[in-house]
Amino acid sequence: MNTPFKDGFAPVSEEITAFDLDVTGRIPAELNGRYLRNGPNPLSLDDPSAGHLFFGEGMVHGVRLRDGRAEWYRNRWVRSARVAGRLGEDPRPGPVHAGLDFSANTHVIGLGGRTFATVEAGALPYELGYELDTIGACDFGGGLPGGFAAHTHLDPVTGELHALAYFFGWDHHQHLVLDPKGVVQRVTDIPVADQPMVHDFALTERFVVIYDLPVTFSLAHAERGDRLPYAWNDDHPARIGLMSRESGDVRWVDAPPCWVFHTLNAYDDGDEVVVDVVSYPKGFVDARLDLGGPPALDRWRIDLTTGRVGQARLDDRPQEFPRMDERRTGRPYRYGYTAVTRELVDVVGGGVAGELEDLADDAFGNTLIKHDLRRGTQESRELGRGAYVGEPVFVGAGEAEDDGYVLSFVNNPARGAADLVILSAQDFTGEPVATVHLPARVPLGFHGSWIAD
Ligand SMILES: [Fe+2]
Repeated sequence: MNTPFKDGFAPVSEEITAFDLDVTGRIPAELNGRYLRNGPNPLSLDDPSAGHLFFGEGMVHGVRLRDGRAEWYRNRWVRSARVAGRLGEDPRPGPVHAGLDFSANTHVIGLGGRTFATVEAGALPYELGYELDTIGACDFGGGLPGGFAAHTHLDPVTGELHALAYFFGWDHHQHLVLDPKGVVQRVTDIPVADQPMVHDFALTERFVVIYDLPVTFSLAHAERGDRLPYAWNDDHPARIGLMSRESGDVRWVDAPPCWVFHTLNAYDDGDEVVVDVVSYPKGFVDARLDLGGPPALDRWRIDLTTGRVGQARLDDRPQEFPRMDERRTGRPYRYGYTAVTRELVDVVGGGVAGELEDLADDAFGNTLIKHDLRRGTQESRELGRGAYVGEPVFVGAGEAEDDGYVLSFVNNPARGAADLVILSAQDFTGEPVATVHLPARVPLGFHGSWIAD
């Protein structure tokens, strides 16, 4: 089988529990909680789920930090009924939407003292226990009419968690608002044409910002047997929807045709809305995970008076996994963090990484970037060949926006295992504050969270 699960993406075959991990440096005593990260890890490379990066069974890797120590590392598959069966276990109880029982593989978040592995396109989240055991699929007490979303955004002032669900069987997207206890407070259907894919969205104080881009469900590709039957559709105009958080009304404006997986952040700026995204020139060309070119970090300025969208390139290096200080979600902000991962760009950029000058240097192929958006400058931290650097998650400590830590799994090829690297965000290129040495490799994956105790 032609699998994307090789090199940095190669799955691990065991679940491991390890205590009192070796540490170089000093773990900040204020970091009490868990760093968790989800990603696709096929049970077997002979399975159909190993044929596409998006379909590998979810595996959550976690490190628990307490009182300056790394108490444990655990990695656990998310037990959908199929995964439980393959592991010789009973299926967990829980609801299923539209027959889509899927081992959620895209993100892992905390909400109301609970932990959820999430995924998009119709399936429900799976709730995990503190030690990453699977409790069961969750529809938030019956509050979800359909599936959920991989990406959510928490308003740090109101405590509302926003999500935007989509499903190929719907003629709408569904905006969801949950309260801090995980109770669904509001459900709003937003009519859209052509069943577009929507991986992420943005939140400002006034708006939910919806990306309605030309990647739509393709019956032709579904009939041909493509696992991910979504394709670039020139007949689907690119739009941005501004949904008023107060009234629920949506205003649509024309957008530059492109594909966006991820938001860095967004905010209201007088008569404009600023949205920072990682954008690709095209997406899912002929339904392959081939995004027609490398990604770059862009800023959109949406003029609320004229409805025009200005586009400026903030950084043209092929980066992904944008994160920021989520105490400032939806508000003006200064700093962002992204990752350059050669292996990821090779998969999603349609094999363009090899053609890129910037990636010709293997070291730069594994780099974390800190962006100072006010000054328009970047600091780059190169992690070397085979580092398979993952998403940089920011954890705030002091009041200042970059007073805190950046956490990421980084492969250590010399040990054949991963480290959890903890950087000082204010000393981004200096020595790590701490490096936690894990007992095993952590394959490249998708998204994660710091979930404080
Ligand atoms: Fe994502």
